[in-house]
Amino acid sequence: MTKIINFKDGIQKWELEEIKKTFMDGKLVIFPTETVYGIGANALDKTAVDSIFVAKGRAQDNPLIVHISNFSMLKDLVEEPNEIEQKLIDALMPGPFTIILKKKKGVIPDNVTCGLDTVGIRFPENKIIQSIIEYTGLPIAAPSANISSKPSGTNIEDIKDEFDGKVDIIVDGGETLIGLESTVCKVIDGVPTILRPGFITKEDIEMVIGSCNVSEFVMKEAKGRVESPGMLYKHYSPNTKCILVDKELMEEVSKKYTNPIIIGSNEINRYKYFDYGDNLVNIAHNIFKLLREADKLNGEVILIEAVEPNGLGLAIMNRLIRTCEYNYIKRENENK
Ligand code: TXA
Ligand code: MG
Repeated sequence: MTKIINFKDGIQKWELEEIKKTFMDGKLVIFPTETVYGIGANALDKTAVDSIFVAKGRAQDNPLIVHISNFSMLKDLVEEPNEIEQKLIDALMPGPFTIILKKKKGVIPDNVTCGLDTVGIRFPENKIIQSIIEYTGLPIAAPSANISSKPSGTNIEDIKDEFDGKVDIIVDGGETLIGLESTVCKVIDGVPTILRPGFITKEDIEMVIGSCNVSEFVMKEAKGRVESPGMLYKHYSPNTKCILVDKELMEEVSKKYTNPIIIGSNEINRYKYFDYGDNLVNIAHNIFKLLREADKLNGEVILIEAVEPNGLGLAIMNRLIRTCEYNYIKRENENK
């Protein structure tokens, strides 16, 4: 049985106590963050961490990130950050930002990081998860709360659809604010490198450090040895076939199908249409939820309007290109 705890109206001490006990017992708790919901276990409990992989159906070589609620936890888990890493930590944490750091030996079990000598550390800004971690005093290993290869969970209904009965507690914090997962960044040869774009953009990092690289795999399929194993897997995908389409081509492309479902900013009469919003912040907030809604219609195809891959648009396009398994109908003569 899964217990739902509603945190929207404030936190009760006995509820925090129950969550703490659940983590200490090696069980799973789903909780909100400002990005997406996470499915978490005590990061120091190897067996509990194994059960995350089982609940999600996650590949055994795709490492988990570890959530903290203060910087002394960070000191316990990782080697001392270098100067650039420390600047990023000071400027961007807490926030929707994950930094890959060198693990301290013998603290975080190997299955969290799938044998890597680094670990992704995230200090969420969301007050609910902050207070849970602070109360339990445990680092929490948590990937996004979704069955592997599906869109990440951003609201309680979608979470319940997938995980009711599979975890001990679901903490309901309403819809998540941002809607896309954190920016994953690793400092490589002295330069911050974005492995997964998010709400914290390349430009934000440049403001802190002066320079920032973006992994070449952000907008294309990764193969072979990559910095971040998550790049290799199918992601964010509904069951229905999805195609990414540039806005100008949507009308024309939609005519090729009898009954396409369209997600975008521009309604085309005749077809089932989901409005994803009129700016990048709204699109990020809505997109995963809409993908799941659209999928429930069991249509022939979902056509999704592309955005410019700049700023937050890069994070949106990084998810959508994977949703569409790299099927992207673009305007011609473009250097995108
Ligand atoms: O916003 C978020 O980051 C959410 C919330 C719950 O915090 N979490 C999340 O976790 O999105 P997950 O597991 O779905 O994505 C983490 C990504 C994966 O692509 C994984 O491969 C990568 O981070 N990653 C984790 N540890 C890594 C490491 N040591 N080196 C490189 N990449 C790593
Ligand atoms: Mg994920």
